[in-house]
Amino acid sequence: MRFLRLVQIGILTACLSAYLSRPADAQGAGAVFRQNCSACHTIGGGHIIGPDLQGVTKRKDRAWLVRFLQNPKTMIDSGDPYAAQLVQDAPGRMVMPTAAGMNPDLANALLDYIEGGTAAAKPEPAGATLSDRPFTAADVAVGQQFFLGERPFENGGPACISCHTLGTIGGLGGGRLGPDLTNVFDRLGGRKGLGAWLSGPPTPTMQSVFGKRALQPDEILSLLAMIDDASNRSHPADNSSVVKFFAFGFSGMLVGLALLQIAWRGRIRSVRRSIVRAHVRGGL
Ligand code: HEC
Ligand code: HEC
Repeated sequence: MRFLRLVQIGILTACLSAYLSRPADAQGAGAVFRQNCSACHTIGGGHIIGPDLQGVTKRKDRAWLVRFLQNPKTMIDSGDPYAAQLVQDAPGRMVMPTAAGMNPDLANALLDYIEGGTAAAKPEPAGATLSDRPFTAADVAVGQQFFLGERPFENGGPACISCHTLGTIGGLGGGRLGPDLTNVFDRLGGRKGLGAWLSGPPTPTMQSVFGKRALQPDEILSLLAMIDDASNRSHPADNSSVVKFFAFGFSGMLVGLALLQIAWRGRIRSVRRSIVRAHVRGGL
């Protein structure tokens, strides 16, 4: 009996480890692509933020592509002319981020998947479900409410203002963990590009926050309207909110000190007096 039990455990362990260490096959690569690449790339669906990847393995040799996928920035910084041209054509000359866990096996599996071209199930370009009706003033207002957290997201994602600021929000500005979004509309490829981006944010922090709490298409639409409106109306790199923050803190400190001064008026003198008295009494 005991022997059978051990065999059973052995088989289970073997299955589990085979499962965990399974090679990134084309099936898995499809999922990886949807999660990590489709916010910026299509396969045959046209350019969004990055190039359309249809036929990419014919444009460039595989060894190069595998190296590029593992670290786009290094490749670009090395002065490689092909990479330099790609960056030239990217919106805002953005550099492609390295996907988490990228290694030669995964890079090859992704390229196989991309090469599968028409045969492989084409990923639906992220953001394809967004309506393309014109933005209205109401969209801008609703977007602002979402941004500020006055209106909750259906899937419970946190308000953008906790980490981002934007030129049109007054007061003390927003959080500073994420970049200023004032100019992001044009930088990430306008309505189509930014819409796709927000449908499946590809960067580490945004993905960890919104990956499981995806923004809904109508929420994205109003945020796009608001961010577009902000980029038309304001100037980024405005540090007045930082100045205001300091002014606010500094005047608060002065008021606090003044209050302490009033509350503890005479305290030093009375304390010192009793010490001196005790000393005089004890000492003489
Ligand atoms: C945030 C957007 C973004 C994400 C996410 C992204 N890419 Fe890119 N990708 C780009 C941009 C932009 C370029 C053009 C080069 C540059 O500017 O860095 C590019 C270039 C490429 C190229 C070279 C294209 C050519 O025409 O030679 C390949 C291949 C590629 N990406 C594959 C991928 C794969 C696979 C993933 C997912 C693991 C991915 N990318 C994720 C933006 C992105
Ligand atoms: C928990 C903090 C946090 C929240 C909440 C958050 N972001 Fe971000 N966001 C970041 C960080 C950090 C980055 C920088 C890239 C990264 O690490 O993901 C970023 C990057 C971005 C970018 C790309 C900026 C660029 O210049 O490339 C956009 C667009 C964006 N966020 C939009 C939003 C929107 C819209 C919301 C609200 C729905 C939001 N973010 C909520 C932290 C946050």
